[in-house]
Amino acid sequence: MRKLGVGVLGVGDMGRRHAENIRRLVPRACLVAVTDVAVARAKQVATELEIEHSFGSFEDMLAHKDIDCVVIAAPDKFHAQAIRTAAAAGKHILSEKPLALNLADAHSALDAVAQAGVRLQIGFMRRYDPAYAAAMKRIEGGEIGEPVIFKAIGRDKDAPPISAYQSQLNGMLLYNNTIHDFDLSRWLMRDEVTEAQTYATVAVRPEVAKYGDVVGSVVNLKYRRGAIGNIESFVQSTYGYDIRTEIVGSAGSILVGSIQQSSATFLTKNGGMQTLADHFLTRFTDAYVAEVQDFVDNVLNDRPPRVTGEDGLRALEIAVAAETSYREAKPCGVNQAAR
Ligand SMILES: NC(=O)c1ccc[n+]([C@@H]2O[C@H](COP(=O)([O-])OP(=O)(O)OC[C@H]3O[C@@H](n4cnc5c(N)ncnc54)[C@H](O)[C@@H]3O)[C@@H](O)[C@H]2O)c1
Repeated sequence: MRKLGVGVLGVGDMGRRHAENIRRLVPRACLVAVTDVAVARAKQVATELEIEHSFGSFEDMLAHKDIDCVVIAAPDKFHAQAIRTAAAAGKHILSEKPLALNLADAHSALDAVAQAGVRLQIGFMRRYDPAYAAAMKRIEGGEIGEPVIFKAIGRDKDAPPISAYQSQLNGMLLYNNTIHDFDLSRWLMRDEVTEAQTYATVAVRPEVAKYGDVVGSVVNLKYRRGAIGNIESFVQSTYGYDIRTEIVGSAGSILVGSIQQSSATFLTKNGGMQTLADHFLTRFTDAYVAEVQDFVDNVLNDRPPRVTGEDGLRALEIAVAAETSYREAKPCGVNQAAR
């Protein structure tokens, strides 16, 4: 059985998890190498995962003869360039979201992929989460009729340290966080968003304003066929990692997500207590495995990826419209923003 040789770029929280999944849980893939600008970290991850090769340079990893494809999990700012570099080297790509931080970079990355004839999947792993996948099956089966309203909540537990804003390595809230909901907003509604209207706030942490970021936002959406939507994002719920989505249809409604980590409830004379989900790596454990498994299977079977570069572009277009709406304090048509 042929195995696909994989290299991972960026082995922080997310990249290390991808590397570990590939090493241990995807039988048809072989983790060949990891790369990180923090060379010591790359070496440490390689040692922990019992693989031979670690690099400080992406180009050096791409030159390795056993690499067939790469997983890009460096910070947001580097995704588009890394996609172009990997495509030029003829490697298939699974890139973390967002595809890019602006539309020009997104288009040039997609052009490079098309020109090289390689496969590109974007890391919208929620589509692989069992609950979201089950919701989609029912929507496709017509069980809630025509989707009319999309509602989403995405709250991280703890705010990032101020150094994360200072570094400017990742996109602002709408590109780094809400982008997952922009993807779900198209996928689950089976329609395209045409307009975004955003309110956002730096309340509780005004210092993030000088880095062009916000701590919370609500984005209203309009769809091509007349549906509407609303997405709330917040960086510091303090109580847990709270991801919920509702699709309200003409014949029923689907709620996805729960703030409970597990279904266990602990009861004492002081009352009840439930363990809450606290991190993306625990809430979406299965989804991260399933997305990389699907990527590997599709590459090996010469099938197109299930979550495409085009999906990455569409979600980014909504983010650009949402940011423009916030900055200009008026609704913005998708693809009408100049950025
Ligand atoms: N799909 C998801 O649920 C999800 C969750 C978290 C993060 N992400 C995405 O994954 C990416 C990484 O996020 P993270 O939380 O792991 O961040 P992180 O800060 O924990 O890790 C980033 C790693 O990349 C390395 N790095 C920095 N610049 C680099 C470069 N130019 N080339 C190679 N390596 C470089 C850093 O040294 C670090 O080890 C981000 O794009 C983020 O948006 C996705």
